[in-house]
Amino acid sequence: MTVAIGIDVYGTLVDPLGMSDALRPLVSDHADELAAQWRTKQLEYTFRRAAMGLYANFDTCTRQALQFVLDNAGLALAPDDQARLVERYQSLGAYPDAIAGLHKLKAGGHALVAFSNGVEATLRKLLSRAGLLPHLDGIISVDELKTFKPDPRVYASLVRRLNRVATDTWLISSNPFDVIGAKAAGLKAAWIRRNPQAAFDPWGVAPDLIASNLIEFADRFRERF
Ligand code: LAC
Repeated sequence: MTVAIGIDVYGTLVDPLGMSDALRPLVSDHADELAAQWRTKQLEYTFRRAAMGLYANFDTCTRQALQFVLDNAGLALAPDDQARLVERYQSLGAYPDAIAGLHKLKAGGHALVAFSNGVEATLRKLLSRAGLLPHLDGIISVDELKTFKPDPRVYASLVRRLNRVATDTWLISSNPFDVIGAKAAGLKAAWIRRNPQAAFDPWGVAPDLIASNLIEFADRFRERF
């Protein structure tokens, strides 16, 4: 049996913490910490904007989150440097298992799309630069709905766009909030636990499958479908 799969992008296919390499020449010792704070703040902005109905796209959330973490750390970066960092966010590298994992899933005949908070044009650039685009059947961005994950409407829209029923549609994500969001909307969801120390929110919702990377996921998935 083949199923339809939406794969989260940031944190699942590409590594947002890779921004520490671009930050290092500008903020030296703080690079890792700032990259982590940047990602956390970016997600906080998406959650808050979705809750408030005050939509601004993911590129804006990314840019404003960077400005906040720099201001918060008392670091003044020239506007050009900030703009270059935001541009670099469109060149994040793929996780080492991503291409092989997608390849294995495709070999199983499953429909495979990137499903992300990101703006579609930005995602196209990012996934193409990371060498991932040829391994996907398409890109579904939540931007068209003017809200963000985990708003239930974004998962319902994924199911609709893939022409499936929810129980035949899988979400694969390293982000627990995304996995729980998909499960709450009736989809199947896998958690890619990239960090063996990562905890899952104790909300009484269990992922349908847990794997440490996309290759392991594809192998485990093949045993079931
Ligand atoms: C995304 C964020 C949630 O790609 O990682 O949608």
